[in-house]
Amino acid sequence: MQRRTIVITGASDGIGAAAARALGRMGHEVVVVGRNREKTAAVARDIRADHYLVDFSDLDEVRGLAALLLQKYPRIDVLANNAGGIFTPVRQQTADGFEMTFQVNYLAPFLLTHLLLERLIASQATVINTSSVANRLYGKVDFSDLNAERNYDPNRAYGNAKLEQIMFTRELQRRFGAQGLAAAAFHPGIVSTGFSRAPGASMEGIYGNRFLSRFLATPKKGADTLIWLAAEDSGSTWPSGEFFTRRKVAQTNPQANDAPLSRDLWNLTEKLLQIG
Ligand SMILES: NC(=O)c1ccc[n+]([C@@H]2O[C@H](COP(=O)([O-])OP(=O)(O)OC[C@H]3O[C@@H](n4cnc5c(N)ncnc54)[C@H](OP(=O)(O)O)[C@@H]3O)[C@@H](O)[C@H]2O)c1
Repeated sequence: MQRRTIVITGASDGIGAAAARALGRMGHEVVVVGRNREKTAAVARDIRADHYLVDFSDLDEVRGLAALLLQKYPRIDVLANNAGGIFTPVRQQTADGFEMTFQVNYLAPFLLTHLLLERLIASQATVINTSSVANRLYGKVDFSDLNAERNYDPNRAYGNAKLEQIMFTRELQRRFGAQGLAAAAFHPGIVSTGFSRAPGASMEGIYGNRFLSRFLATPKKGADTLIWLAAEDSGSTWPSGEFFTRRKVAQTNPQANDAPLSRDLWNLTEKLLQIG
């Protein structure tokens, strides 16, 4: 087995923590990125890994994290953009001026990937985006209201962000696939984690319900596709630029198959983030 350097965000809990532990035990160098200090340190301690803290609701923290990673790791073989979640019925805005769901699930990982891009290409790396079936259920990207100022609904904001992650995945493949970068998005299943458990979270009725949550997948099971994508090669094992469920290419929202739309979204995102 070739030992890979694997950066996982949202690795302090749930699916990301399960993936970090499994990949660490397989012998990979895992870089544990979380937000909560104690939880992040505990996962890192278990697998003797480095850890970093970041809050994606503050883009300056994303810039700081990228600088630290570039300083420390001459190779990054995998970047798993896994941190994310669904938030409250009331629209929240970050200090950067973006709707919270849009920023945490899409803009912050886009920025992190952008800042690491040269290192990722030089490492012939894989970028993995933890998306969701919500891209099909609730997603409908509207360029005139990307920031959900007119029309906020927590499920729609989440579905849009997860759809935007898939469009980002497709575009990463189109723009940088020929240079050796690979990209994949995946749906982990309906998994019993901290996801949507907080009081007032939009799907608290399912995820926070003690009885129903017994029927959900375990974090270990939810992490399976992430572990597979991180540990196996694209090309020989899985095709780059696709969306996966249970290790298989899965259907997406039709908007994710509209290449000009993904290109336009990429260009607009660069403008919003003032990069590129
Ligand atoms: N659970 C499901 O059924 C399901 C289904 C489809 C997709 N997903 C996706 O799977 C991914 C992992 O979620 P999970 O189910 O494992 O939930 P989880 O147990 O709540 O874990 C979420 C992770 O994201 C981190 N995070 C949340 N907000 C953040 C922020 N503002 N800045 C930095 N990190 C932040 C958390 O950090 P701290 O704990 O350190 O605060 C935690 O490590 C998410 O992208 C989620 O949308 C989950």
